[in-house]
Order: sequence, then C-alpha cells, then structure tokens
Amino acid sequence: MLDKANLKIGENSYEFPLIKGTEDEVAIDIKSLRGATNGVITIDPGFKNTGSCESAITFLDGEKGILRYRGYPIEQLAEKAVFLEVAYALIFGNLPTSEQLDKFHTDIKSKSVVDDDVKKILDAFPKTAHPMGILSSLTSALTAFNPSSVNVDSEEDMYRAIVKILGKFPVLVAWTMRKKQGLPLNYGSKSLGYVENIMKMMFEQPNEDYEINTIVKDALDKLLILHADHEQNCSTSTVRIVGSSHAGLFASLSAGISALWGPLHGGANQAVLEMLEAIKEDGGDTKKYMAKAKDKNDSFRLMGFGHRVYKNFDPRAKIIKKAADEVLNSLGVDDPILEIAKGLEKEALKDPYFVDRKLYPNVDFYSGIIYRAMGIPVEMFTVMFALGRLPGWIAQWKEMRLNKEPIGRPRQIYTGQTERSFTSIENR
Ligand code: CMC
Repeated sequence: MLDKANLKIGENSYEFPLIKGTEDEVAIDIKSLRGATNGVITIDPGFKNTGSCESAITFLDGEKGILRYRGYPIEQLAEKAVFLEVAYALIFGNLPTSEQLDKFHTDIKSKSVVDDDVKKILDAFPKTAHPMGILSSLTSALTAFNPSSVNVDSEEDMYRAIVKILGKFPVLVAWTMRKKQGLPLNYGSKSLGYVENIMKMMFEQPNEDYEINTIVKDALDKLLILHADHEQNCSTSTVRIVGSSHAGLFASLSAGISALWGPLHGGANQAVLEMLEAIKEDGGDTKKYMAKAKDKNDSFRLMGFGHRVYKNFDPRAKIIKKAADEVLNSLGVDDPILEIAKGLEKEALKDPYFVDRKLYPNVDFYSGIIYRAMGIPVEMFTVMFALGRLPGWIAQWKEMRLNKEPIGRPRQIYTGQTERSFTSIENR
C-alpha cells in the first residue's frame, strides 16, 4: 500500500506521509513542507483541496450523497431520532441512553433563563434590523453576562458552557422573532420537550393558549436534525478558527452565525424563497430564470442549487422535499411556489448546464417552503438554520479545543508592491 507522496521541486525531491481516515479518505500530510523546502507553501483559495483538521464528528461523501453524524446515517436520524438526541450524539460521540438524555435536557432547562438586561440590548435594535445580525450580537452579548471563560481542561466546565448555550440560544431566537413582530417576550415551559418549547416560545400569542401541532413539531425536529452538522463548511470553519485563538465558546458561535448569514451559505434559504416569489410575481416563467442562471453576464444564480461537496445529490434535500409535500398536505396549505420549485428542479435536472456542472438542489431549496407553511417569516429562515447548526458548531469547537489544535493562521503569496520609499504628501 502506498503511504507516501513524492514532490519534486526543481532538482529536489521531498517525501510526505499520507494520512488515511476511517472511511479511506486520503490526505497528504504537508506539515513539514515549509521547513523542508525552505519556505514553499501550498495555495488553495476557498480550501477546495485542503483539509483543515482531522475530525471524528461528521462524514460526508459528496459523490455518493452520504451524510452521517458520528456514523449514524442522516436518513435514519431524520426518521427515528429527536433533535436533542442528535445534538447529544454530535457533542458527546454516541446516541444517549434515556437517562443520559433526561439529564441533558434537565441541565439545559436549568440554564435557559436569559438575563433580563439582554432585553435592553434587543430594544436598542431598529425594527428593520435583520434577525441574523441581532442573533449574532445577542450571542456575543452573552459573553458579557457570563464572563468567566470556559476551562476546557475541565469536563464539568465544558459541560456547563454547552448546556448553557443550548438553553439560552432558543430563547434568543424566539425573542429575536417576537421583537420584530411586536410580540411580548416570553419564556417557554420546562414541562415541554426541547423542540416543543422552541415552538411555544416562538409562536405563542399573548391572548391564547398555545397548542402544539404535532405535524409542525415533527417537521421542525427533522429540519433541525438535517441542519445539525456538515463537517468543515464556512460557518463551522469560522467557529473552529475563531476558537483556535482560545476565544470563548459564545464569541466563536457569534462569528459562526455571521458566516452562516451569507447567501452562498445559510442565507440561501431566504434567498431561495425570495427568488421563487420573484419568479411567481413575474408570471412563473421558470425558463426565463433558468436562462438567467446560465448566462455568464448575469449575476443571477439559481439559489438552492449546487454545493461545494455534493456532486450527485444532497441527501438532506431528498428528505426535505418529501417533508415539504407531507407538511403542506397535512396543513392543507396550497403554496404555488412549491410547484414553481418543483418545475425549476425538473428543468435543471435535464439541462446540460446543470448536469455537466453537477448542480443539484441542496438543503436550502425546499426548507423555506416548509418554514413558510409553519408561519415563520422569511427573514427568520437563516436563524432557523443557525438553531439547527448549533450542536454541530459546539461539537466542532469542543473537538478543536480538546485536540489542542494550533491557532488557525494561513499563509499567503504576496502580490503587492515590492519595497519603495515614503513620499511626503505634497510630492504624491
Ligand atoms: N446557479 C448557476 N450556476 C451555478 C450555481 C447556481 N446555483 N452554482 C454553481 N454554478 C456554476 C458556477 O457559475 C460555475 O460555473 P463555471 O464552471 O462555468 O464557472 C460552476 O457552477 C461551479 O460553481 P462554483 O461557484 O465554482 O462552485 P463552488 O463549489 O465554489 O460553490 C456554491 C458552491 C454552493 C456556493 C454554489 O453552487 C452557489 O452559489 N449556489 C447557490 C447558493 C446556495 O444555494 N448556497 C447554499 C449551499 S447549501 C447550504 C450550506 O450548507 O451552506
């Protein structure tokens, strides 16, 4: 078996070890490259060929459309598990026993109260503020209310920080939405399950009892599970790299939320719905928008299509498409944009532009349609993604700290001016 890679630069040859993962993925370990070659580095914008770490959390095979958390296939988790079990598995390595799950939930509930002064910060935001900006700020603000930094060498300390953020984050999510809607800020109820409680906090009206709709609850559970982790994506890499400077958990998460916001990442779910709405308003001509997406002089992209890693299909999209049908049927919602979405997908799947570039619907293509049927405003869609991704970010941050990874500090190839002399302002 080959276990070395050879590199030739001019007359000199160098040998680098290969690293193999448990799923037979192979990497060339170039840790010694600069030292051995007197300063030569690799360059890989967007890290398309670069592994940033070794990780035991999530496996995905983009060619085969496989996604597994801690070895458990996403299809089984989406079908059989609840979100909190999945969060536990991601963070601690295995699915919990019922005692472990009960204790985890009890500990989360015991830490779910948010300092009332956080409401003052929320009050200061204009009504027009985007919920992702608010959420990122409030998550960062939690550091001010919980100033002691996590001692990562103490399992107890680490656990306390984890249950704290899992308890408080849904409150921040619900408050962000309610504030924008002019609703009073509330707390859920300790008697409810984790996801049921999120729903109560988000949707309860001040003048009526809130009843959980089990169809909506099951769909939300599934959506959160499908978003819970996705190995070294943009926001997760952000969380790891911010945390690698030994910034605290909440500060690292706040940075991850900002990274998720962009329309090429989590912000795509909002962008998809806005795109589908625009197509509907424009008469539903999907062919016109397909042509725009293919036109290199047009900046328009088919949002919800394409993925850096999946080049066959996104297994999450398959599950979500089915769920969208089920949820809309059971709720009796007839949303014309579901038909537009299906029409676009059908055309794209037989169009050479999309086929050649291996562009398939991703997780965000159908999720917004479900969120809308649940009564969640479009601007909150990426916040819902963040709520789902929280356990993944936590697991990855924890792994990075426990593995004692060095501070993330890439190199560069400088292409600017070479040395020149300062000229005084009157002579420029
Ligand atoms: N519509 C039209 N053309 C596209 C699209 C699209 N959605 N996505 C990629 N392409 C084209 C792109 O123009 C390029 O063409 P060419 O080879 O002729 O220059 C080719 O396909 C490869 O694209 P790329 O941008 O180099 O691929 P990437 O791996 O850097 O980007 C992506 C992946 C997800 C950012 C991109 O596919 C995209 O912008 N999609 C739309 C936004 C979206 O849905 N994002 C959500 C991703 S899934 C949720 C998550 O995990 O974040």
